[in-house]
Amino acid sequence: MKAAAPGSWTILEILRWATDYFRTKGVAEPRASAEVLLAHALSLSRLDLYLKYDQPLTPPELARFKRLVIRRRQGEPVAYLTGHKEFWSLDFHITPGVLIPRPETEVLVSAALEVAKDLTESGVGGGGQGSQTPLQSSPKPPPPTPYRGLEGELEGRAGDHLQKKSPGPPLKSPFQPAAWGLEVGVGSGAVVVALAREIPWMAWVALDLSLTALTVARDNARRHEVAPRIRFLQADLLSSLKPEARFALLVANLPYVPRAEWEQLPIDIRDFEPKEALLAGEDGLALIRPLALEAHHYLRPGGWLALEVGPGQAHQVREFLQDRGAYDRLDFVQDYHGINRVVRARRRAGG
Ligand SMILES: C[S@@+](CC[C@H](N)C(=O)[O-])C[C@H]1O[C@@H](n2cnc3c(N)ncnc32)[C@H](O)[C@@H]1O
Repeated sequence: MKAAAPGSWTILEILRWATDYFRTKGVAEPRASAEVLLAHALSLSRLDLYLKYDQPLTPPELARFKRLVIRRRQGEPVAYLTGHKEFWSLDFHITPGVLIPRPETEVLVSAALEVAKDLTESGVGGGGQGSQTPLQSSPKPPPPTPYRGLEGELEGRAGDHLQKKSPGPPLKSPFQPAAWGLEVGVGSGAVVVALAREIPWMAWVALDLSLTALTVARDNARRHEVAPRIRFLQADLLSSLKPEARFALLVANLPYVPRAEWEQLPIDIRDFEPKEALLAGEDGLALIRPLALEAHHYLRPGGWLALEVGPGQAHQVREFLQDRGAYDRLDFVQDYHGINRVVRARRRAGG
């Protein structure tokens, strides 16, 4: 690093200053924000800041950090300033226009992983169409399969779920997913990437209405080496799936903020994150409701649905599901604040 001007700030001094500044301006998590932004400005890890706390900042470093501090004070979220957000202990690339993954959505991932165990125990596997892989003949998932370079093959197979096929012939490959999953509203890809890494025997269709989200999600899937097992698709809810498509696991964290609550959200969210990833009509159920009413058509017998919902929405969503008469198990999973955060339902066999 270049020599600093005499009298310039050390890492520790500037950290203390920025933390106090954020605190007086009402910025959330002032110390953590200061550390993450300073580490980003200096291209260091947060731990390095403590190992080098008496190192002075050069004028360009100081200028870079000050610019970030100003943008943060104006409400811009840390993840948009750094381009990164950790989720499920993985580093995700984030850009404006894509929802920043929330810690509570890790509850959706763990709730889905629990039922994935139920899938392996009950032998629910197979492709998107019932005839492709008989469920009962594959009671255990095959061992993890290397999947590098198989994207074309999976795209071809995933085409079986979709109304429009991908152009070009599928590549030859030995990868045979034991089951297909579907994520509706993939955003940055945090959920589907975490699940794809945790469940190596499954392949996924991942939908979103937003092309920006799909681009970021695909990038994250590549970074975490699961892109060959995920087919990304621009679609409005389930409208692009073939009627006969069947999935073993369907997960979604769709927008669920009611209109009246929108104006109450902190400006970090309201002025910076995509409205279409958060707002869902008058009651917050404008997207979850139609998905809940249709999802059973796209689940294999014994397959699971897991929906993230907002505070106070779980019982209503369970009613939508109960009304279909298509599920033999329904439960809630709570988040760390005791809020019913995920509604799960298992598709009845033969229903
Ligand atoms: C709350 S965000 C969740 C993103 C990501 N799954 C996560 O948990 O961080 C909801 C996502 O649903 C997408 N979305 C909104 N309406 C949709 C629709 N009608 N069909 C498909 N996706 C939709 C938004 O673009 C957004 O990416």
